[in-house]
Amino acid sequence: MKPTIADLRRDYTRDGLTEAQAPDEPHLLFATWFAQAVEIETTEANAMMLATVDEHGQPHLRTLLLKGFDERGFVFFTNYQSAKGEQLATQPRAAMTFWWHDLERQVRIEGQVEKVSDEESDVYFHSRPAGSRLGAWASPQSQVIAGREVLEQRLAALEIQYAEDQPPRPPHWGGYRLVPQVIEFWQGRASRLHDRLRYQLQDGQWRRERLAP
Ligand SMILES: Cc1cc2nc3c(=O)[nH]c(=O)nc-3n(C[C@H](O)[C@H](O)[C@H](O)COP(=O)(O)O)c2cc1C
Repeated sequence: MKPTIADLRRDYTRDGLTEAQAPDEPHLLFATWFAQAVEIETTEANAMMLATVDEHGQPHLRTLLLKGFDERGFVFFTNYQSAKGEQLATQPRAAMTFWWHDLERQVRIEGQVEKVSDEESDVYFHSRPAGSRLGAWASPQSQVIAGREVLEQRLAALEIQYAEDQPPRPPHWGGYRLVPQVIEFWQGRASRLHDRLRYQLQDGQWRRERLAP
């Protein structure tokens, strides 16, 4: 018999997360977990969910690609005039979640969001494949369009315009950095007794606590 949705479940037994394995700085643990995700995950390890809120308090959630991280925060690139760009302009806070299925791990990050420098956006923009660079110009992200042909016509015109030259970075396209206040590492364990270690920034120091699953 086919399982019902209620029957779908998996016991997590791959690994554990102890305090001894958790460094004082959460970005170091993120770096370890991210490297393992790149190695082991069959889907894009840098895919994550980004939540923002609008002026009514309505949350909005979508998938994005992480494009960099260090002790300053977690960087992603998008259209500054998109729905998320408008939400971040009025409410510069966000939450980010990674779910690494094969590793049975989740990471949740919350904090303030700031734009990265123009130089940082330029460097990443010019590292992108040619099609993606023109796509950033062609797509008025999150706007209603009459049909797919609108995008195809714009792209065709841009391909002629930039047949010889490199397109510059659109002024409305660039990076944001989520500057973390809270980072939680979740490792699935047997019998739903998962490991959860939460780091919170307090007076410039990271405090680490274990949470019940
Ligand atoms: C796997 C995956 C990766 C994505 N990566 C990005 C990204 O890095 N930047 C981006 O602007 N949109 C990305 N998108 C599209 C977003 O999910 C979303 O549709 C878009 O950013 C518009 O969101 P908004 O209308 O809430 O601003 C990605 C979608 C998927 C499924």
